[in-house]
Amino acid sequence: MTLSRRRTLQLGLGAVAAAGCSGVERRPVQASDNLQQNFSVNGQMQLKQRAAAKGIIYGSASNYSPLKQDPQFAKLFAETCGILVPENSLKWGPLRPAPDRFDFTEADWMAQYAQQNKLLLRGHTLVWKHSNPDWLESVTSRTAEKVLTEHITTVVKRYAGRMHSWDVVNEAIGGIPSWRSDGLQTMPWLTTLDKDYIEIAFRAAAAADPRALLVYNDNSVEYDIPVHNRTRSAILELLQYLKSRKVPVQALGIQGHLDAAETRFNANKLRQFLKDVASLGLKILITELDVTDQNLPADQTARDRMVARAYEEYLSVVLDEPAVIGVITWGISDRYTWLNQSNSRKDGLPVRVLPYSDTLTRKLAWNAIARAFDAAPKRG
Ligand code: XIL
Repeated sequence: MTLSRRRTLQLGLGAVAAAGCSGVERRPVQASDNLQQNFSVNGQMQLKQRAAAKGIIYGSASNYSPLKQDPQFAKLFAETCGILVPENSLKWGPLRPAPDRFDFTEADWMAQYAQQNKLLLRGHTLVWKHSNPDWLESVTSRTAEKVLTEHITTVVKRYAGRMHSWDVVNEAIGGIPSWRSDGLQTMPWLTTLDKDYIEIAFRAAAAADPRALLVYNDNSVEYDIPVHNRTRSAILELLQYLKSRKVPVQALGIQGHLDAAETRFNANKLRQFLKDVASLGLKILITELDVTDQNLPADQTARDRMVARAYEEYLSVVLDEPAVIGVITWGISDRYTWLNQSNSRKDGLPVRVLPYSDTLTRKLAWNAIARAFDAAPKRG
């Protein structure tokens, strides 16, 4: 990153951080906010190549059907990405229709697609409070450890040697304020096994595949708002606790679901958090990056610039931390993004939240991500 560009970014972020710290009210983002920002990119390289040039992995999540049924998309995916994360196919819901049955159809197909296209593969996720089959509700404290261990052993062993990393536990803390002092959220495994479910899951995953990088994945850490401030502390405490018990957690996954209309991004707090995590000897991955445009003005040019700015501001901070070894976006194209459902716009306009448009052309968000990789320090 050139000095002047870095300074511009820091000034921009500093102003935002100051607003967050002093409790100044959030002001609506204006369409005219960043008309001066330059998003030009040098050269022809794909995102995966720009990342790889710095020793960073870039890739994306995708669902099964777009890759299987949309050849144009599948081709672009393999050209752009160095790693594939099945977006839903490895969650308990799709994988475990019944207690005595696994359905690996989708996940196996995706593992094969990754192999054929020379992509790394990432597993998401072995424990989560959502996307579970109904029968999980009937697991009792007596059987819980066995059910959890058997699931993890079976799934992780099946892909052992082929998985770059596994999100072993997802969202134990982030987001919703918890009634517990350790910040852990209510979910079936907490009810049956209390905090031990986390340790049990990591130990089972390590035993089943000693080579995959084992990740604790969570969200809600980027902004200077009470719930994010609490989440950062609780995650750090959990990671310290796990390390003190020699639980085989090797990395923190930060989802990175950003909001382009959120002005309380605090670069200093995020930098400090990343540093604290790294000082525990952990790697860091950005695992589900996207930028909602739900609360932005309708104007498409302005909207694309604001989304791009959010990507570049965030990544330029995050990639300064050498422990960050990978960036995964939660999709590559607006044609297929969960934000079409979960964060649709009130005016009914299609969302524009990922690097490629719904017609698979590059948007400014692509430039922003490319620029952040180009400006990132090279990993040793
Ligand atoms: C989302 C998928 O994108 C959706 O298709 C699905 O309906 C729900 O889950 N955090 C996570 C991801 O860890 O698993 C979620 O993925 C998005 C939020």
